[in-house]
Amino acid sequence: MTNVWRDLPRPIHGLAPMEDVTDTVFRRLIIGWGRPDVVFTEFIHAGLVIEPRGKRPGLSPRLVHSPIERPIVAQIWGNDPEQYARASLRLRELGFDAIDINMGCPVPKIRNRGACSALIRNPTLASELIDAAKTGGLPVSVKTRIGFDRVETEEWAGHLLSSGIDALTLHGRTATQESEGPVLWEEIARAARIARTMGAATAVLGNGDVMSRHEIDTRCARYGLDGVLVGRGVFADPLLFNADPSARGFRDMTDGDRVAMLGEHVALYREVWGSTRNYEILKKFYKIYLQGLSDPTLRDDLNRTHDYASAESVIGEWFACRRDATRATGCATRAEPTAADAR
Ligand SMILES: Cc1cc2nc3c(=O)[nH]c(=O)nc-3n(C[C@H](O)[C@H](O)[C@H](O)COP(=O)(O)O)c2cc1C
Repeated sequence: MTNVWRDLPRPIHGLAPMEDVTDTVFRRLIIGWGRPDVVFTEFIHAGLVIEPRGKRPGLSPRLVHSPIERPIVAQIWGNDPEQYARASLRLRELGFDAIDINMGCPVPKIRNRGACSALIRNPTLASELIDAAKTGGLPVSVKTRIGFDRVETEEWAGHLLSSGIDALTLHGRTATQESEGPVLWEEIARAARIARTMGAATAVLGNGDVMSRHEIDTRCARYGLDGVLVGRGVFADPLLFNADPSARGFRDMTDGDRVAMLGEHVALYREVWGSTRNYEILKKFYKIYLQGLSDPTLRDDLNRTHDYASAESVIGEWFACRRDATRATGCATRAEPTAADAR
């Protein structure tokens, strides 16, 4: 049987899970612009895997995925082994390649429920959840931090590795640090060394503040890691995973290219989600695509929209203005050249 964590070529370039960001739409777009080796769903409570709620009875939006996204890992959270066991069977039925358990989310309202990063303080339950997640026969991994409120890599990573997991991703900060402070790559390297010393067949991945494909490779080589998951790096460069050295990077793209990428996102989001997911979530992507745009009014105009049709009309009008700056009185500032104009 295939095992994504054993079979992927090293170093593994993975897209980290990000709630309200890495849904099926953004994952498909990222894959189209430069394929990561593996992607994750946003985290979903194990109870919602087995008893979905909301506007799409039968399947939570967080579990919607398409075959082109494979290999894809479903990330779950919660603290009930019975739910994990049932969720693992369902995730297998749904065609996921592996299951990841979130033991890193530091958000107080979640960790106060005894889940996610709170499991760092409850290693016995952590092991029970890992065992339960294996019920469906999929590979099981854990994404966590190097400690709760102090660095405790040796004990915590050692414990997880002895629980028999297929992969371990460490964000090189403690839970209480959230996203503050430096990422301690030496600690992530320590976990990789522990895995090797134990003879554990566990892939060890690092995570935190990685901003380029090149950095993934240098971190893996320097710290002896199997791979890296990149999260916010794709906000600065959605083409980060593109391996083609001759491809134009996001930074070199014209305003027109960026607005076209945004238009692609709006169109796919509308096609996939329609009224089943909140339109307002899309607005965080406006910031991503339009960073550095010479015309700031477009983002303001888009932020004033509350539905797809209005957003599409703002984008359409922006392109129309650029095509004919003289006819489009009042929008001449938008008429700067595109890559297409230059060719
Ligand atoms: C908006 C946002 C949502 C996130 N949601 C999740 C999540 O659902 N599951 C998870 O394990 N981590 C989540 N994270 C944490 C990231 O996966 C990652 O560990 C963290 O951002 C550090 O990596 P980075 O510096 O490459 O972004 C989220 C982070 C952000 C910024």
